[in-house]
Amino acid sequence: MAEPLILGIETSCDETGIALVRGYDLLADVTASSMDEHARYGGIIPEIASRAHLESFVPTLDATLEKADVDLSEVDAIAVTAGPGLVGSLTVGVSAAKALALALNKPLYGVNHIIGHIAVDELVNGPILENSVGLVVSGGHSSLLKIGNIATEVEELGATLDDAAGEAFDKVGRLLGLPYPGGPHIDRLSKEGDRTAIRFPRGLVGGRHKEKHQYDFSFSGLKTAVARYIEGLEEAGTELPVTDIAAGFSESVADVLSSKAIAACETKGTDTLIIGGGFSANSRLRELITERAQKAGVTVRIPPIRYCTDNGAMIAALGSALVRAGVSPSGLGITVDTGMP
Ligand code: KG4
Ligand code: ZN
Repeated sequence: MAEPLILGIETSCDETGIALVRGYDLLADVTASSMDEHARYGGIIPEIASRAHLESFVPTLDATLEKADVDLSEVDAIAVTAGPGLVGSLTVGVSAAKALALALNKPLYGVNHIIGHIAVDELVNGPILENSVGLVVSGGHSSLLKIGNIATEVEELGATLDDAAGEAFDKVGRLLGLPYPGGPHIDRLSKEGDRTAIRFPRGLVGGRHKEKHQYDFSFSGLKTAVARYIEGLEEAGTELPVTDIAAGFSESVADVLSSKAIAACETKGTDTLIIGGGFSANSRLRELITERAQKAGVTVRIPPIRYCTDNGAMIAALGSALVRAGVSPSGLGITVDTGMP
Protein backbone atom coordinates (compact mmCIF):
# COMPACT_ATOMS: atom_id res chain seq x y z
CA MET A 1 0.00 0.00 0.00
CA ALA A 2 1.23 3.48 -0.83
CA GLU A 3 2.40 5.59 2.09
CA PRO A 4 0.04 8.36 3.24
CA LEU A 5 -0.07 11.60 1.26
CA ILE A 6 0.70 14.57 3.53
CA LEU A 7 -0.22 18.18 2.78
CA GLY A 8 2.15 20.61 4.52
CA ILE A 9 1.25 24.25 5.18
CA GLU A 10 3.71 26.92 6.30
CA THR A 11 2.71 30.53 7.00
CA SER A 12 4.74 31.52 10.08
CA CYS A 13 6.41 34.59 8.60
CA ASP A 14 6.36 36.09 5.09
CA GLU A 15 6.30 32.90 2.99
CA THR A 16 3.13 31.01 2.10
CA GLY A 17 4.53 27.52 1.53
CA ILE A 18 2.44 24.50 0.57
CA ALA A 19 3.80 21.06 -0.30
CA LEU A 20 2.79 17.45 -0.82
CA VAL A 21 4.96 14.64 0.51
CA ARG A 22 4.48 10.87 0.33
CA GLY A 23 6.86 9.00 2.61
CA TYR A 24 10.22 10.63 1.93
CA ASP A 25 9.21 11.81 -1.55
CA LEU A 26 8.47 15.44 -2.25
CA LEU A 27 5.75 15.52 -4.92
CA ALA A 28 5.34 19.29 -5.17
CA ASP A 29 6.36 22.38 -3.26
CA VAL A 30 5.16 25.91 -4.05
CA THR A 31 6.07 29.10 -2.20
CA ALA A 32 4.68 32.62 -2.49
CA SER A 33 6.61 35.35 -0.69
CA SER A 34 5.56 38.83 0.41
CA MET A 35 9.19 39.91 0.95
CA ASP A 36 9.05 42.50 -1.84
CA GLU A 37 6.24 44.27 0.00
CA HIS A 38 8.30 44.46 3.23
CA ALA A 39 11.67 45.40 1.79
CA ARG A 40 10.96 49.12 1.58
CA TYR A 41 10.11 49.19 5.31
CA GLY A 42 13.42 47.54 6.22
CA GLY A 43 11.71 44.66 8.04
CA ILE A 44 8.67 42.37 8.04
CA ILE A 45 5.39 44.21 8.66
CA PRO A 46 3.14 41.59 10.34
CA GLU A 47 -0.17 42.98 9.02
CA ILE A 48 1.11 42.98 5.44
CA ALA A 49 2.36 39.40 5.87
CA SER A 50 -1.02 38.17 7.22
CA ARG A 51 -2.98 39.72 4.40
CA ALA A 52 -0.53 38.32 1.82
CA HIS A 53 -1.04 34.80 3.22
CA LEU A 54 -4.79 35.23 2.89
CA GLU A 55 -4.40 36.32 -0.74
CA SER A 56 -1.83 33.65 -1.66
CA PHE A 57 -3.23 30.63 0.15
CA VAL A 58 -5.70 29.26 -2.39
CA PRO A 59 -3.59 30.00 -5.50
CA THR A 60 -0.56 28.36 -3.80
CA LEU A 61 -2.62 25.30 -2.83
CA ASP A 62 -4.02 25.00 -6.36
CA ALA A 63 -0.56 25.29 -7.87
CA THR A 64 0.78 22.58 -5.53
CA LEU A 65 -2.02 20.15 -6.37
CA GLU A 66 -1.61 20.81 -10.06
CA LYS A 67 2.14 20.33 -9.94
CA ALA A 68 1.80 16.99 -8.11
CA ASP A 69 -1.15 16.04 -10.33
CA VAL A 70 -3.26 14.98 -7.36
CA ASP A 71 -6.78 15.84 -6.22
CA LEU A 72 -7.34 17.41 -2.81
CA SER A 73 -9.50 14.40 -1.89
CA GLU A 74 -6.40 12.13 -2.12
CA VAL A 75 -4.71 13.89 0.85
CA ASP A 76 -4.46 11.56 3.88
CA ALA A 77 -3.31 14.04 6.56
CA ILE A 78 -2.58 17.75 6.96
CA ALA A 79 0.36 19.28 8.82
CA VAL A 80 0.53 22.99 9.57
CA THR A 81 3.00 25.25 11.37
CA ALA A 82 1.46 26.10 14.75
CA GLY A 83 4.50 28.10 15.98
CA PRO A 84 6.79 29.84 16.53
CA GLY A 85 6.12 32.82 14.29
CA LEU A 86 3.96 35.89 13.82
CA VAL A 87 0.52 35.49 15.35
CA GLY A 88 -1.48 36.80 12.38
CA SER A 89 0.55 34.83 9.85
CA LEU A 90 0.27 31.59 11.83
CA THR A 91 -3.46 32.14 12.30
CA VAL A 92 -4.11 32.30 8.55
CA GLY A 93 -2.35 28.95 7.96
CA VAL A 94 -3.83 27.19 10.97
CA SER A 95 -7.37 28.40 10.16
CA ALA A 96 -7.03 27.27 6.55
CA ALA A 97 -5.63 23.90 7.67
CA LYS A 98 -8.53 23.41 10.09
CA ALA A 99 -11.03 24.22 7.34
CA LEU A 100 -9.38 21.68 5.00
CA ALA A 101 -9.17 19.01 7.71
CA LEU A 102 -12.83 19.54 8.53
CA ALA A 103 -13.98 19.52 4.92
CA LEU A 104 -11.90 16.47 3.97
CA ASN A 105 -12.43 14.72 7.33
CA LYS A 106 -8.69 14.05 7.62
CA PRO A 107 -6.32 14.22 10.63
CA LEU A 108 -4.60 17.53 11.42
CA TYR A 109 -1.13 17.94 12.93
CA GLY A 110 0.03 21.29 14.35
CA VAL A 111 3.83 21.24 14.13
CA ASN A 112 6.89 23.17 15.26
CA HIS A 113 8.46 25.29 12.51
CA ILE A 114 12.02 24.99 13.86
CA ILE A 115 11.90 21.18 13.90
CA GLY A 116 10.53 21.39 10.34
CA HIS A 117 13.76 23.13 9.26
CA ILE A 118 15.61 19.93 10.21
CA ALA A 119 12.94 17.42 9.11
CA VAL A 120 13.10 18.67 5.50
CA ASP A 121 16.59 17.21 5.27
CA GLU A 122 14.99 13.72 5.19
CA LEU A 123 13.54 14.50 1.75
CA VAL A 124 17.00 15.22 0.37
CA ASN A 125 19.51 13.20 2.38
CA GLY A 126 17.39 10.30 3.66
CA PRO A 127 16.11 9.32 7.12
CA ILE A 128 17.57 11.20 10.08
CA LEU A 129 19.63 9.02 12.38
CA GLU A 130 18.38 8.55 15.93
CA ASN A 131 21.13 10.59 17.51
CA SER A 132 21.84 13.79 15.61
CA VAL A 133 22.40 17.44 16.39
CA GLY A 134 20.46 20.13 14.51
CA LEU A 135 21.46 23.77 14.01
CA VAL A 136 18.66 26.04 12.80
CA VAL A 137 19.78 29.51 11.80
CA SER A 138 17.67 32.13 10.05
CA GLY A 139 16.39 35.67 10.38
CA GLY A 140 13.99 34.53 13.10
CA HIS A 141 15.79 31.75 14.95
CA SER A 142 19.15 30.40 16.04
CA SER A 143 18.71 27.10 17.88
CA LEU A 144 20.72 24.00 18.64
CA LEU A 145 18.69 20.81 18.88
CA LYS A 146 19.44 17.30 20.07
CA ILE A 147 17.41 14.92 17.95
CA GLY A 148 16.63 11.52 19.44
CA ASN A 149 13.82 10.92 16.97
CA ILE A 150 12.67 13.69 14.64
CA ALA A 151 8.98 12.87 15.28
CA THR A 152 8.96 12.16 18.99
CA GLU A 153 12.13 13.23 20.73
CA VAL A 154 13.64 16.64 20.07
CA GLU A 155 15.32 18.60 22.82
CA GLU A 156 16.38 22.24 22.57
CA LEU A 157 19.97 22.42 23.78
CA GLY A 158 20.17 26.17 23.35
CA ALA A 159 18.89 29.18 21.45
CA THR A 160 19.65 32.84 20.98
CA LEU A 161 19.00 34.99 24.02
CA ASP A 162 18.45 38.07 21.83
CA ASP A 163 18.90 38.47 18.05
CA ALA A 164 18.92 35.58 15.59
CA ALA A 165 22.02 35.26 13.38
CA GLY A 166 20.27 36.54 10.24
CA GLU A 167 18.64 39.35 12.22
CA ALA A 168 22.08 40.49 13.44
CA PHE A 169 23.29 40.48 9.83
CA ASP A 170 20.28 42.51 8.73
CA LYS A 171 20.85 45.05 11.54
CA VAL A 172 24.54 45.42 10.72
CA GLY A 173 23.49 45.71 7.06
CA ARG A 174 21.40 48.72 8.02
CA LEU A 175 24.39 50.25 9.87
CA LEU A 176 26.44 49.84 6.70
CA GLY A 177 23.67 51.35 4.55
CA LEU A 178 22.97 48.11 2.68
CA PRO A 179 19.50 47.18 1.31
CA TYR A 180 17.24 44.90 3.39
CA PRO A 181 17.79 42.04 4.02
CA GLY A 182 21.47 42.84 4.50
CA GLY A 183 22.67 39.26 5.19
CA PRO A 184 23.53 38.22 1.64
CA HIS A 185 25.14 41.65 0.93
CA ILE A 186 27.41 41.38 3.98
CA ASP A 187 28.30 37.84 2.94
CA ARG A 188 29.32 39.08 -0.51
CA LEU A 189 31.34 42.02 0.89
CA SER A 190 33.05 39.84 3.50
CA LYS A 191 34.71 37.79 0.78
CA GLU A 192 36.66 40.88 -0.31
CA GLY A 193 37.70 41.78 3.24
CA ASP A 194 40.36 40.63 5.69
CA ARG A 195 38.67 38.61 8.42
CA THR A 196 41.59 39.15 10.80
CA ALA A 197 41.77 42.96 10.39
CA ILE A 198 39.13 43.72 13.04
CA ARG A 199 38.38 41.31 15.86
CA PHE A 200 34.82 41.68 17.08
CA PRO A 201 33.67 39.97 20.32
CA ARG A 202 32.26 36.42 20.43
CA GLY A 203 28.97 36.21 22.34
CA LEU A 204 28.52 33.75 25.25
CA VAL A 205 31.79 31.93 24.66
CA GLY A 206 34.11 30.57 27.37
CA GLY A 207 34.58 31.68 30.97
CA ARG A 208 31.46 31.94 33.08
CA HIS A 209 29.24 31.16 30.06
CA LYS A 210 30.73 27.71 29.65
CA GLU A 211 28.24 26.00 31.95
CA LYS A 212 25.00 27.96 31.90
CA HIS A 213 24.96 29.13 28.28
CA GLN A 214 27.13 26.48 26.69
CA TYR A 215 24.70 26.08 23.77
CA ASP A 216 23.01 29.48 23.79
CA PHE A 217 23.82 32.35 21.46
CA SER A 218 23.83 36.12 21.81
CA PHE A 219 24.47 38.43 18.89
CA SER A 220 23.21 41.78 20.13
CA GLY A 221 26.46 42.65 21.95
CA LEU A 222 28.34 41.96 18.74
CA LYS A 223 25.97 44.21 16.80
CA THR A 224 26.56 46.99 19.38
CA ALA A 225 30.33 46.49 19.08
CA VAL A 226 30.07 46.93 15.30
CA ALA A 227 27.88 50.03 15.77
CA ARG A 228 30.45 51.57 18.16
CA TYR A 229 33.29 50.78 15.79
CA ILE A 230 31.45 52.48 12.91
CA GLU A 231 30.53 55.51 15.08
CA GLY A 232 34.16 55.89 16.19
CA LEU A 233 35.42 56.01 12.61
CA GLU A 234 32.64 58.33 11.49
CA GLU A 235 33.39 60.77 14.30
CA ALA A 236 37.05 60.75 13.30
CA GLY A 237 36.02 61.33 9.68
CA THR A 238 37.77 58.13 8.60
CA GLU A 239 36.41 56.17 5.64
CA LEU A 240 34.72 52.91 6.69
CA PRO A 241 36.63 49.74 5.82
CA VAL A 242 33.31 48.14 4.82
CA THR A 243 34.69 44.85 3.53
CA ASP A 244 36.88 44.32 6.62
CA ILE A 245 33.95 45.13 8.92
CA ALA A 246 31.80 42.64 7.00
CA ALA A 247 34.54 40.00 7.17
CA GLY A 248 35.31 40.50 10.88
CA PHE A 249 31.63 40.50 11.79
CA SER A 250 30.89 37.38 9.70
CA GLU A 251 33.86 35.66 11.29
CA SER A 252 32.53 36.26 14.80
CA VAL A 253 29.07 34.85 13.99
CA ALA A 254 30.40 31.86 12.04
CA ASP A 255 33.01 31.10 14.71
CA VAL A 256 30.43 31.02 17.52
CA LEU A 257 27.81 29.04 15.59
CA SER A 258 30.25 26.43 14.32
CA SER A 259 32.19 25.99 17.56
CA LYS A 260 29.02 25.49 19.63
CA ALA A 261 27.46 23.14 17.07
CA ILE A 262 30.56 20.94 16.89
CA ALA A 263 30.93 21.01 20.70
CA ALA A 264 27.32 19.81 20.97
CA CYS A 265 28.07 16.90 18.60
CA GLU A 266 31.11 15.94 20.66
CA THR A 267 29.33 16.18 24.03
CA LYS A 268 26.25 14.34 22.81
CA GLY A 269 28.31 11.66 21.09
CA THR A 270 26.86 12.10 17.62
CA ASP A 271 28.63 12.12 14.28
CA THR A 272 25.82 13.85 12.37
CA LEU A 273 25.07 17.57 12.28
CA ILE A 274 22.05 18.76 10.28
CA ILE A 275 21.78 22.45 9.40
CA GLY A 276 18.65 24.32 8.35
CA GLY A 277 17.32 27.87 8.01
CA GLY A 278 18.05 30.60 5.46
CA PHE A 279 21.24 31.72 7.21
CA SER A 280 22.85 28.39 6.31
CA ALA A 281 23.54 30.08 2.94
CA ASN A 282 26.28 32.09 4.69
CA SER A 283 29.55 31.18 3.04
CA ARG A 284 31.85 31.67 6.05
CA LEU A 285 29.57 29.53 8.25
CA ARG A 286 29.67 26.78 5.64
CA GLU A 287 33.46 26.96 5.36
CA LEU A 288 34.18 26.99 9.09
CA ILE A 289 31.64 24.34 10.01
CA THR A 290 32.85 22.00 7.26
CA GLU A 291 36.45 22.47 8.36
CA ARG A 292 35.72 21.91 12.05
CA ALA A 293 33.35 19.00 11.41
CA GLN A 294 35.98 17.23 9.35
CA LYS A 295 38.48 17.54 12.20
CA ALA A 296 35.89 16.22 14.68
CA GLY A 297 34.79 13.34 12.44
CA VAL A 298 31.29 14.79 12.10
CA THR A 299 29.24 14.53 8.90
CA VAL A 300 27.42 17.75 8.00
CA ARG A 301 24.06 17.55 6.22
CA ILE A 302 22.74 20.77 4.68
CA PRO A 303 19.78 20.63 2.27
CA PRO A 304 19.92 22.80 -0.88
CA ILE A 305 19.23 26.42 -0.03
CA ARG A 306 15.67 26.44 -1.39
CA TYR A 307 14.76 23.91 1.32
CA CYS A 308 16.65 25.89 4.00
CA THR A 309 14.47 28.99 3.67
CA ASP A 310 10.84 28.77 4.82
CA ASN A 311 8.74 26.42 2.68
CA GLY A 312 5.89 23.93 2.82
CA ALA A 313 8.15 20.91 2.21
CA MET A 314 9.64 21.19 5.71
CA ILE A 315 6.20 21.01 7.30
CA ALA A 316 5.00 18.18 5.04
CA ALA A 317 8.23 16.28 5.81
CA LEU A 318 7.66 16.65 9.56
CA GLY A 319 3.99 15.65 9.14
CA SER A 320 5.12 12.57 7.24
CA ALA A 321 7.54 11.68 10.07
CA LEU A 322 4.76 12.09 12.67
CA VAL A 323 2.36 9.86 10.74
CA ARG A 324 5.12 7.26 10.18
CA ALA A 325 5.89 7.26 13.93
CA GLY A 326 2.21 6.70 14.74
CA VAL A 327 1.87 9.98 16.65
CA SER A 328 -1.76 10.99 17.40
CA PRO A 329 -3.07 13.97 15.44
CA SER A 330 -3.47 17.32 17.21
CA GLY A 331 -7.15 17.61 16.29
CA LEU A 332 -9.19 20.65 15.33
CA GLY A 333 -8.75 22.31 18.74
CA ILE A 334 -5.18 23.47 18.06
CA THR A 335 -4.25 27.07 18.41
CA VAL A 336 -1.12 29.00 17.48
CA ASP A 337 1.86 29.43 19.79
CA THR A 338 4.04 32.36 18.73
CA GLY A 339 6.81 31.45 21.18
CA MET A 340 6.65 27.67 20.80
CA PRO A 341 9.85 26.18 22.28
O1 KG4 B 1 15.12 31.34 6.66
P1 KG4 B 1 15.03 32.69 6.03
O2 KG4 B 1 14.88 32.78 4.55
O3 KG4 B 1 13.85 33.51 6.63
C1 KG4 B 1 13.56 33.54 8.00
O4 KG4 B 1 14.20 34.32 8.69
O5 KG4 B 1 12.70 32.75 8.44
O6 KG4 B 1 16.33 33.48 6.48
C2 KG4 B 1 16.58 34.78 6.05
C3 KG4 B 1 17.68 35.37 6.87
C4 KG4 B 1 17.79 36.87 6.68
O7 KG4 B 1 18.08 37.46 7.92
C5 KG4 B 1 18.94 36.99 5.70
O8 KG4 B 1 19.62 38.22 5.78
C6 KG4 B 1 19.82 35.86 6.15
O9 KG4 B 1 18.94 34.80 6.51
N1 KG4 B 1 20.71 35.38 5.08
C7 KG4 B 1 22.05 35.48 5.11
C8 KG4 B 1 22.52 34.93 3.90
N2 KG4 B 1 21.45 34.51 3.18
C9 KG4 B 1 20.34 34.79 3.91
N3 KG4 B 1 22.85 35.98 6.05
C10 KG4 B 1 24.16 35.91 5.81
N4 KG4 B 1 24.71 35.39 4.71
C11 KG4 B 1 23.94 34.88 3.73
N5 KG4 B 1 24.49 34.38 2.62
ZN1 ZN C 1 12.18 29.52 9.41
